[in-house]
Amino acid sequence: MGHKQSPILNDNKLKLGFFSPNCSSGMAVTKVEERWVNSWDNNIELAKLGDEAGIEFILPIARWIGYGGETDFHGSVLETVTWATGLLAHTKNINVFATVHTAFIHPVVAAKQLATADQLSHGRLGLNIVAGWNKPEYDAFGIDLPEAHSDRYELAQEWFEVVQKIWDHDGPFDWKGKFYNLKGIYGYPRPYDGKPPIMNAAGSQEGRQFATRNADFLFCISVDPDQSKQEVIDIHDQATAQGRNTGAFTLTHVVCRPNKKEAEEYLDHYANQNADWEAVDNLMELQGMHAQSFPAEALQMFRGRFAAGHGTYPLVGDPDTIAKELARFTEAGFAGCTLSFVDYAKEFPYFRDEVLPRLEKMGLRQPFNG
Ligand SMILES: Cc1cc2nc3c(=O)[nH]c(=O)nc-3n(C[C@H](O)[C@H](O)[C@H](O)COP(=O)(O)O)c2cc1C
Repeated sequence: MGHKQSPILNDNKLKLGFFSPNCSSGMAVTKVEERWVNSWDNNIELAKLGDEAGIEFILPIARWIGYGGETDFHGSVLETVTWATGLLAHTKNINVFATVHTAFIHPVVAAKQLATADQLSHGRLGLNIVAGWNKPEYDAFGIDLPEAHSDRYELAQEWFEVVQKIWDHDGPFDWKGKFYNLKGIYGYPRPYDGKPPIMNAAGSQEGRQFATRNADFLFCISVDPDQSKQEVIDIHDQATAQGRNTGAFTLTHVVCRPNKKEAEEYLDHYANQNADWEAVDNLMELQGMHAQSFPAEALQMFRGRFAAGHGTYPLVGDPDTIAKELARFTEAGFAGCTLSFVDYAKEFPYFRDEVLPRLEKMGLRQPFNG
């Protein structure tokens, strides 16, 4: 792995990142007026807040078609490579990830786009590789979604090998594979300082094999931190068996308020009374049909969690409760997690002022000194 300066590789036991601010409504499938507006200005504001507070990373979602409902959840999405490039130019410390669908973006184009973003940020880009699952998007691109996961990941593997060879190889080369037939290709400049950190978020066995073979981090849904302990061990074992190290990350949504009652009332307000249930059901149906990122029990039991935060783990309560809940993820073996808020930029400062100092006292994070 290159990029020794990447914040996501720092010594903090619990690394934190924002997830999905490039998408309309972020992670909350809600109709409330204050739901996240994914404007460029809002994204810059949030990125700067995170940058100055020592948040390690920002992770976007690459989405081409929304989920419908009254709000058309994720109907407006800033494209992630251009989004990441812009945010990297506006920040100093934070890792910004780009998310690339291997079936939609040619590897020669991706290799150069990613190297460009990494150059301008002096090595702060990260890459999320998505092998694909969302059939309406494949239809929109005029491409058949391969039924078998093995076929999806076979393409992803060749795609990533092409990208890496462009980054590593001296001078032009030819590539003759199953999916790509390239002649005299090369790509300069390379990424700034070795390979950017690579993440993947597969749940299927084929995907986990791909992730532990290629990625530095695997993101997985946790129904409950205690229940995830074995899964984290399995990820580490699978990586070790291939002579690699793959860290496990998980995902949360946050409602942090001075007391439990206030937090729970707001959760009920945005994710129950005012949920966009039609979009919730569309989202859950598509996830259940084509992806294996969510355990079956999560899909059945947690319709409310999908409304509140796209099926992620709820951190709802006062700052003490939330800090303790976060510590449970570290105990379960996770290296970090994502955070999302209904209005990220408005709500994050309270989390920063109240939860981050508690995590520092607990030894999970070091104070950030710029
Ligand atoms: C943290 C995280 C980020 C993801 N980002 C995207 C994304 O940006 N675009 C997308 O189409 N799928 C995204 N996914 C879905 C997964 O990358 C993957 O395609 C999905 O889990 C299906 O793979 P599987 O069937 O092999 O489990 C994400 C999932 C997680 C947990």
